[in-house]
Amino acid sequence: MPVSWLLASLALGGALWALPEARGFRPFSFAILSDLHVGEGAEDFGSVGYDDRPAPSLPAHPAIRNARAAVDKVNALAASRGVAFVIVLGDLTDSAERSEFAGAKLILDGLAVPYVPILGNHDIWPATKAGVAPAPEGPRYFAEVFGPRLQGLAAAFPDLVRAGSERGLQNWAFSLRGIGFVLADWNSRGRADGGPDPAADLHDGEGGTFPWLEALLRDGWMTSKTRAFLAQHHPLRMKVPFTSPHFAFSPRERARIKDLLDRLGAASGSAAVLSGHEHRDFAGPAFPDRPGLAQIETAAAKDGPAVTVIAMDSPTSYSLSRH
Ligand SMILES: [Fe+2]
Repeated sequence: MPVSWLLASLALGGALWALPEARGFRPFSFAILSDLHVGEGAEDFGSVGYDDRPAPSLPAHPAIRNARAAVDKVNALAASRGVAFVIVLGDLTDSAERSEFAGAKLILDGLAVPYVPILGNHDIWPATKAGVAPAPEGPRYFAEVFGPRLQGLAAAFPDLVRAGSERGLQNWAFSLRGIGFVLADWNSRGRADGGPDPAADLHDGEGGTFPWLEALLRDGWMTSKTRAFLAQHHPLRMKVPFTSPHFAFSPRERARIKDLLDRLGAASGSAAVLSGHEHRDFAGPAFPDRPGLAQIETAAAKDGPAVTVIAMDSPTSYSLSRH
């Protein structure tokens, strides 16, 4: 039985109904998947090494079985509830092997609607039983495996923009019916011996993620949107706050994003953050003193075929259901 939770933009909703884009708004839904971790259950997935080719067929690991079940569930929802597209919130792979990205694509290509994948912290540094790669090659594998599909999304989303690729970042933005979707790559490229670095990073230099988001505001991209969703692997509010500097953002980084989201909300009507990483379903304020700024987390598809659906009922309000 899906659990529904209705959020309405109380502050601006009335005024926005008078705007031209609010009249004749056609409702739509989109789905969220997260944390597939393709390769979990294999120390060295695909063929030997991390810069490798996919196995001839995907093994029946629980993570793969559950991810496939999640895809089937989304396809059923697309038929019954008109899901228009899917955002996949990172940790596509368990250890960033090229074959794991190929496996994730094979599974996600089973979706009957367009999908937009982003990177998670597990997708950065390849590792096998032979050890960790000497460089963070995962984003390059992601670009090679998913790049053509992402570029092809321009047919579905004509205002699709990409930023940060020259730095190996995967930052994307697009809109549908006046709703903005900003997909931010905050994943640290720092080396973590023995496993993926769970930390986040603002990538605050030239061509980085934070300046790109600021530029979206400055250049007015968001001002034509009635609501903005910021999709990212890491949550802002953590289940266990004192561990968060090691597993996501530092307090200073969080404060800077909060300020940015305040401006994003001001520019676009209102904003919400979509994230994974903690492998749980959660919906609540992203910051204790910003009750109107929601953080919506989706559990790991690898652990059970978790699917979140967000139905845009109006330009400023949505209902959330878990499946
Ligand atoms: Fe994960």
